Amino acid sequence: MPIPLYDKASEAARYVLAQAQGRVPRAAVVLGSGLGSVADAINDAVEIPYNEIPHFVTSTVQGHDGKLIIGSCDGVDVVLMKGRVHFYEGYSMEEVTLPVRVFSLMGIQTLVLTNAAGGTALHLKPGSLMAITDHINMMGENPLQGPNDERFGPRFPDLTAVYTRAYVEAAHEVAREIGVVLSEGVYMALRGPSYETPAEIRMMRKLGADAVGMSTVPEAIVARHCGMSVFAISCITNVAAGLTASEISHNEVMEVGERAGKQLAELIVRLISRLVSANS
Ligand code: HPA
Repeated sequence: MPIPLYDKASEAARYVLAQAQGRVPRAAVVLGSGLGSVADAINDAVEIPYNEIPHFVTSTVQGHDGKLIIGSCDGVDVVLMKGRVHFYEGYSMEEVTLPVRVFSLMGIQTLVLTNAAGGTALHLKPGSLMAITDHINMMGENPLQGPNDERFGPRFPDLTAVYTRAYVEAAHEVAREIGVVLSEGVYMALRGPSYETPAEIRMMRKLGADAVGMSTVPEAIVARHCGMSVFAISCITNVAAGLTASEISHNEVMEVGERAGKQLAELIVRLISRLVSANS
């Protein structure tokens, strides 16, 4: 008999809390490609490798570590995912999104998702930060497919407001305070792992995408299913295919991520306590 997803998530949640040395995280942050520097701002951290957590899988991608970091961020206990697993690695949607269900069962109500993305809106340049206000799921799968367990959430969850507006406003406030330009836009999620063709990017622009990437949407859908509030932000690491003469490389994506990731880290670090207090 396969273990029910709810039991897997519960076992993992119990394990993580037992390792957390008394910390009770109030927010979870998922770090995208090259965006690991948020972790530097975490004090008194406890690290838990994914391969020690029941039912977790480990990222196979360069630039993605594989551990949870639990510690204090600006006075608030948080859990960071340093390294995410992607659908294109061959993992199932259930595996990709298990950590989000675990965070929910740990009592966390605030989820912050970060990613590296290609800019399809012309004003987005390498290094730009874009708060995600909505998404288009072009991954061809939905993480909630299959039997629904009502203990997580309803069969047909509403996705009118996946990304909490008050969180986006709080991010604008922080961005103004630290002198960072923060755009807003629609994120389109694709399966990957190949980058897009110029013709695909022309189509995506017509469909309303401002940025494109290969993650975030499954986690956001599962988070909303569990009733969590979501803030998501893209670090634009490259102009999307065909919009400039240059080709796209994962090294460039990581380099820009690391550079612009410093700004993103500062923004996230200052934002977390505001998101948590907006919830209570
Ligand atoms: N396309 C898809 N995913 C990405 C890109 C891109 O151009 N850049 C970083 N992640």
